[in-house]
Amino acid sequence: MRSIDWIDGALVIVDQTRLPGETVFLRLTSVEDVVGAIRRLAVRGAPAIGVAGAFGVALAARQHEGDAAAQAHAVHLLENARPTAVNLARQARRAAGRLPSFDAVLAEAMRIRDEEIASSTEMARRGADLVERLCGTGARLLTHCNTGGLATVVDGTALAVIFELYRRGALGGVIASETRPLLQGARLTTWELGRAGIPHRLAVDSAGPFLMARGEVDAVILGADRICANGDVVNKIGTYAHALGARAAGIPFICVAPESTVDTATASGADVEIEDRGAAEVVGTAAPAGTAAVNPAFDVTPAGLVTAVVTDTRTFSGRADGADRLAVG
Ligand code: MRU
Repeated sequence: MRSIDWIDGALVIVDQTRLPGETVFLRLTSVEDVVGAIRRLAVRGAPAIGVAGAFGVALAARQHEGDAAAQAHAVHLLENARPTAVNLARQARRAAGRLPSFDAVLAEAMRIRDEEIASSTEMARRGADLVERLCGTGARLLTHCNTGGLATVVDGTALAVIFELYRRGALGGVIASETRPLLQGARLTTWELGRAGIPHRLAVDSAGPFLMARGEVDAVILGADRICANGDVVNKIGTYAHALGARAAGIPFICVAPESTVDTATASGADVEIEDRGAAEVVGTAAPAGTAAVNPAFDVTPAGLVTAVVTDTRTFSGRADGADRLAVG
């Protein structure tokens, strides 16, 4: 199942806000539809929103045919629907390079979609090879947020590595971290692991470092929304705490992301806009009404805490813009 695709003249996505209870497909036919779906996380995950942004530009080309100013405004809205994952602005701009022709933009968006599918296959193989080299057969892995087919097009990034290890008979166990406050791990990763028939356990985010300290985790493996020139990894809030836990426990911390997530134009994580999604998601029904909150949706893990970054073309440690490659890659 593709979580995002172009079907009969519309962008069709699985509405991730309805999972795991219901599998509902949405047909998006306007730029406003796409921007809204990205903002409310009906489509989410760095590669997936990049693909959505590219198809959104195709919708803009059709919707505003012959009106270059309106098309440019639509591209601006798409690029800025969410700020942190580099994929969105990058892929929307790439597709916009084919304007004003609807056919040319659509063809570019389809190329972007197909590249992400091919990337997942490569990352799965490279990542599984690395985990086997670092941890041996039967690794017990902890993952955070959702990095499966829902977050890409099919298969995923870090979760694709877990699927591949399972296919190889080399997976010792999976702990999915629930991912407060929107529960991408609890709602989506468990759903994808369950569909694949892979045994797994769910843990609250704050249990991760303790489970590592107790010797129940052989490696942490997760995705990224942006990998900066210096190798800093920007990813879902909670990632940094898992990285600190992994360092304290002396286990590998592996980030898996396509090259479309690597942003060598951004020097470090300090230069990345971290989306704050407001108080309501945090305060919910538990806190007294009116409680103030801070809600960063992402955090920055310094490159020095990252054992390896696996992309579709390379495996490296240290800087993303240098030749500082990991020998085991
Ligand atoms: O806010 P989200 O759910 O879009 O955040 C997603 C993540 O942080 C993922 O870990 C990241 O995009 C990698 S997805 C392959």
